[in-house]
Amino acid sequence: MPQKLVVAIDGPAGSGKSTSAILVAQKLGYLYIDTGAMYRAITFLAIKKNLHNEEEILRLAERTDLKLDFIEGKTKVFADKKEITEDIRMPEVNAYVSEISKIENVRKILVQKQREMGSGERGVVMEGRDIGTVVFPNADVKIFMTASVDERAKRRKKEYSEKGINITLEEVKKNLLSRDEIDSGREFSPLTIAGGAIEVNTSEVSIEEQVNIILEEVKKAANKKGILLRVN
Ligand code: DC
Repeated sequence: MPQKLVVAIDGPAGSGKSTSAILVAQKLGYLYIDTGAMYRAITFLAIKKNLHNEEEILRLAERTDLKLDFIEGKTKVFADKKEITEDIRMPEVNAYVSEISKIENVRKILVQKQREMGSGERGVVMEGRDIGTVVFPNADVKIFMTASVDERAKRRKKEYSEKGINITLEEVKKNLLSRDEIDSGREFSPLTIAGGAIEVNTSEVSIEEQVNIILEEVKKAANKKGILLRVN
């Protein structure tokens, strides 16, 4: 039996899942995979190439060599060896990414890639919207992170300000609500709480507590599987 665990972390935009997922991966020495970055990368390329037709976007997803490098707590994103780490966080990508994520065949391609990325020797912390429901339904640990929309908007606004991007709190909130609606209401792999997932409301608990809650679940899963964990 492989000496590794799969930790699935899902939740809406701005719920704080990346912050906790990164810290948990670092503490466990596990691979961290931000699947939202993959949907964002395809969206950015589709915008850049001015593609609107589903067939063209599908071909783009099939042909693009996407690579995520997790170094010193940060994910670097490459498409066909060109770095697009900053480009995929732009407001234009935020506004369009949920539309691209609705396309069933684009999802199939990215889900397959995510399964390959997560099935190596090393344990993995993977975050997204459908990790515990679709990508790894047998994940050892499933976490669902939530936070109030006001709290999530405040966090995103701060991220933009730090990058020098000027956008009002109202605009950020509008985009979050619209993405929530599309991500949760879409036909294929909508954002829902996976069976057996532990719900963590990040408006109410500190980052340290969130990480501890997740690590406790990881320890329980490791005991169950007889896996020796090394927590840094
Ligand atoms: O986590 P994020 O905000 O960077 O994700 C960007 C978008 O990608 C999100 O609005 C929905 C989509 N997404 C998805 O459909 N499935 C995933 N597993 C991850 C992200």
